[in-house]
Amino acid sequence: MRTPLIVGNWKMNKTASEAAAFVRELASRLTAGSQVDIVLVPPFTALESVRAALGPSSTIELGAQNLHWETQGAFTGEVSGPMLRDVGCTYVIVGHSERRTLFGERDGDIQKKVRAALVHGLRPILCIGESLQERETDRTDVIITAQLTAALAGLTAEELSTVTIAYEPVWAIGTGRAATIEQAVAVHRSIRACAAQGWSHSTASRMRILYGGSVTPQNAESLLFTEEIDGALVGGACLKVDSFATIIAAAQNKPLH
Ligand code: PGA
Repeated sequence: MRTPLIVGNWKMNKTASEAAAFVRELASRLTAGSQVDIVLVPPFTALESVRAALGPSSTIELGAQNLHWETQGAFTGEVSGPMLRDVGCTYVIVGHSERRTLFGERDGDIQKKVRAALVHGLRPILCIGESLQERETDRTDVIITAQLTAALAGLTAEELSTVTIAYEPVWAIGTGRAATIEQAVAVHRSIRACAAQGWSHSTASRMRILYGGSVTPQNAESLLFTEEIDGALVGGACLKVDSFATIIAAAQNKPLH
């Protein structure tokens, strides 16, 4: 049984003070339920204030949206793994499609970032997904497999066990057009099969695979109640306390499979 994981990717939204107010309101809205892991991923500038607002005993974890693979040095505008650890991050998103398409990240960069995250004790959330054109030309599986094998090359089974995969079809991100359950399930199965082939069945069966792309309070239950979908990477719908809390509650109600 894999514990469901809900990740809120704030992207370039919320100042440090808005972030702190959001976190206090969210904490007051969460109800006890079955175990769900929650990760908040604010912009770098709000990491410290989110950590402070969560307080030392919170079970909500902190993630970053990106990292550089080097530890330090002359890399203007970049942030490293040790810096993220020091500010309290335990997770880091790697290879988000916006990083790939808007900032030119390549599979080789993403592999170095996954490795750097692991070296510095951060759990990578590796994003992979096909474009609309790739789906329409029947290349989804090829693309997914290529992204996965490039990014995870050389990892041991033990290292892989701390990696979370987020399947995010590019055409579903921020469009209001989520993948259907059937589309998501098919890709989640391919991802798990690819991991089983590269490592082992038991490693693959422990790996969490999230779905991301227009997850909303309306579609969260049907997505999250599906056995193959271990959680969600939420963008737009994580920016409002109400909608994010509703998605977390859906994960808390996920039936045992
Ligand atoms: P969205 O974004 O929920 O706004 O579609 C998801 C993501 O980019 O991770």
